[in-house]
Amino acid sequence: MSDTTPEVAGPVVRPRRLRTTPALRRMVGETSVEARQLVLPLFVREGIDEPRPIASMPGVVQHSRSSLLRAVAEAAELGLGGVMLFGIPATKDAVGSGAIDPAGVLNLAITDVVAEVGDALTVMSDLCLDEFTDHGHCGLLTPDGRVDNDRTLAAYAQMALAQAHAGVDMVGPSGMMDGQVAVVRAALDAGEHTDISILAYSAKYASAFFGPFREAVDSSLQGDRRTYQQDPGNAREGLREVLLDVAQGADLVMVKPALAYLDVIRRVRDSVDVPVAAYNVSGEYSMLEAAAARGWIDREPAILEMLTSIRRAGADVILTYWAAEAARLLAR
Ligand code: PBG
Repeated sequence: MSDTTPEVAGPVVRPRRLRTTPALRRMVGETSVEARQLVLPLFVREGIDEPRPIASMPGVVQHSRSSLLRAVAEAAELGLGGVMLFGIPATKDAVGSGAIDPAGVLNLAITDVVAEVGDALTVMSDLCLDEFTDHGHCGLLTPDGRVDNDRTLAAYAQMALAQAHAGVDMVGPSGMMDGQVAVVRAALDAGEHTDISILAYSAKYASAFFGPFREAVDSSLQGDRRTYQQDPGNAREGLREVLLDVAQGADLVMVKPALAYLDVIRRVRDSVDVPVAAYNVSGEYSMLEAAAARGWIDREPAILEMLTSIRRAGADVILTYWAAEAARLLAR
């Protein structure tokens, strides 16, 4: 034995043995990503005939009513878990009337989509006012410009009923108002919509990674959302928000964004029994796309690695702009 070879007590322990062949690696793999776990967020814009590209999200568009239907038919074909719909109205006002109007763009889109795909997909809708308000906040404002929690709750209750009448399967309250899950649940139940489920955006952080989304929905927001979305450093508080939402009747809870909050996803997964969703947000999408466009990163394996990391952290369901593409990659 040479001086440089360390002495070992027994045979070398060889984890590499399980990495010998693709078949063996596949068999012992701990984490999988499946099409059924992926939800595709889709934007529909009032008053356009052709889809419009979103410059900061290459490959993602604002749909017209008809191009939206092609996208959801494809999502169903690919076996995705669902779609999450966001509406961009032609006109906005201080109270976000377009969100409640039965003829508002989102409510019409829900009806169209349900007619197109039936039960093949879970049809979800964003339940928040920011796409509909001219000030861009997720709620109604007080005369001095603060977001009024309880008046906003009343608007969310009406919005929930409008989406229910349109035929939605699941609503996604995303405005981070206190008590929003309880109010939405009560409104749905009082309207005999006990089967409509709630995906609560429970631990939602005031994140720079939402940047490209603001272009996607033509947001008019000035300032920030720090009085309602959470401070990025707060994991324990994220768990508190999750537990409150579960107590109020959330059927699923969500952590958002995903990548910078994998530890929060893990804590939540270990603390509740409901399914946990994570939102792989616009900025996470765009930064990978931008690097890939420059040839700095190998796009397809990077997409799958990101989604795998979110699953490994504990997410049961992932909202991702790559849902359709990932389903195609996973099928080959
Ligand atoms: C609020 C909402 C936002 C996102 C989803 N729902 C924006 C925000 O809170 O500012 C962001 C999604 C993304 O960045 O992909 N309606």
